[in-house]
Amino acid sequence: MRHILLATLLLLVCSRQSLLADDGHFPETAAQAAAQPATETYTPGLGEFMMSVQQHHAKLWFAGKSGNWSLAGYELGEISEIFEDINRWTPVWQGHPVARLIHPMTGAAMLGLQQSIAHHDKAAFRRSFDQLSGSCSTCHTATGHDDIIIQRPVFPPLTNQRYRPVH
Ligand code: HEC
Repeated sequence: MRHILLATLLLLVCSRQSLLADDGHFPETAAQAAAQPATETYTPGLGEFMMSVQQHHAKLWFAGKSGNWSLAGYELGEISEIFEDINRWTPVWQGHPVARLIHPMTGAAMLGLQQSIAHHDKAAFRRSFDQLSGSCSTCHTATGHDDIIIQRPVFPPLTNQRYRPVH
């Protein structure tokens, strides 16, 4: 029993130790704690951003196909935001200037999608969607990944979301 108590005490001391600031004191306030430099921060890699782009790309298809234009606009906006994040966090990937490639490669298709969504035009949406998928694959080829080929999705990525519009 004594041993268990001692071990617990030791554990407590050790865990408190790790909370100490450099000067050996506990940070008094949240502001003080925040002011301490973080030793390591987590930044997602390009592959993680891309997995997320892939999901939104698939959802975009089902939203547009179902004529759920507000959802389609939302999904397109999410893709744009992730492209912005890539610009900021992983501008260069294995020597390839991905940030500089995004706009020239995808800009026309993204604009076409935006316009087709604004005009509720399914035929134009399909064309621009295929153009976007083609540009995704073109960039993959340009960055040494001609094995990542993007196409129209056959099934929704998740089945717990309805694409049919409310109105
Ligand atoms: C600027 C160039 C570029 C564009 C544009 C681009 N990608 Fe990528 N993508 C990459 C690179 C580079 C990788 C490899 C990243 C890695 O392995 O870490 C990648 C990886 C991927 C992967 C593989 C992720 C995995 O781990 O399985 C998918 C899926 C993907 N992209 C989807 C897309 C989709 C969908 C689009 C278009 C909406 C797109 N990408 C547009 C450069 C691009």
